[in-house]
Amino acid sequence: MKKLFQPYIKGTLQLKNHVVMAPMTRSRAIDNIPNKLMATYYKQRSGAGLIVTEGTSPSPEGLGYPRIPGIFSEAQAEGWKLVTNAVHEGGSKIFLQLMHTGRVAHSSNLPEGYQVVGMSDSQAAGEIYTETGMYEYSAPKALDTAGIQRIIDDHVRAAENAMAAGFDGVELHGAHGTCWTNRLTRTQITAQTTMGVL
Ligand SMILES: Cc1cc2nc3c(=O)[nH]c(=O)nc-3n(C[C@H](O)[C@H](O)[C@H](O)COP(=O)(O)O)c2cc1C
Repeated sequence: MKKLFQPYIKGTLQLKNHVVMAPMTRSRAIDNIPNKLMATYYKQRSGAGLIVTEGTSPSPEGLGYPRIPGIFSEAQAEGWKLVTNAVHEGGSKIFLQLMHTGRVAHSSNLPEGYQVVGMSDSQAAGEIYTETGMYEYSAPKALDTAGIQRIIDDHVRAAENAMAAGFDGVELHGAHGTCWTNRLTRTQITAQTTMGVL
């Protein structure tokens, strides 16, 4: 407990204290673009040594929850600069959480022309929030090996975009049933998706 408010240093990461804010989806990114309201929200929390952002999609098809931000377009990267500048002004460090929602998604939350994808075509159980209420999760299209490679490439580009937008690091979301969870836990893997676990 004594250590909580003392600085933390690991390699090049220097934090003013040991407090880390967990990632929390807020669904405030209109058109999936980070905005001034979000910059204010994160700056208000820059008492923490490190902030991990809300889940942020590296690909259009990974935007399966309503109004979550992305990091694949220039407008999104510009929006995130408002956030990283605000948090750095507050003396805190900030990591971007990369979250591809995979099958934990509803098609109406995605931009036009995109469909929900997953490690298999098995539909997630339960319901998800959309702009018009709660609906069952959409049945995903099973990714083949080329599809998985495309998403990996999206993550690499997204991480580069994040660092260019001023983030101090990135975190890969691998829980809650989102895209990589099924690979990490070796569930929902089909004959079409025989690539090794990441
Ligand atoms: C409103 C809300 C949104 C969340 N969004 C995310 C998210 O985007 N990414 C993530 O990894 N976890 C998310 N979580 C999970 C939290 O980061 C945390 O792991 C969870 O609340 C358990 O922590 P606790 O035991 O301290 O409550 C969310 C939790 C809440 C309450």
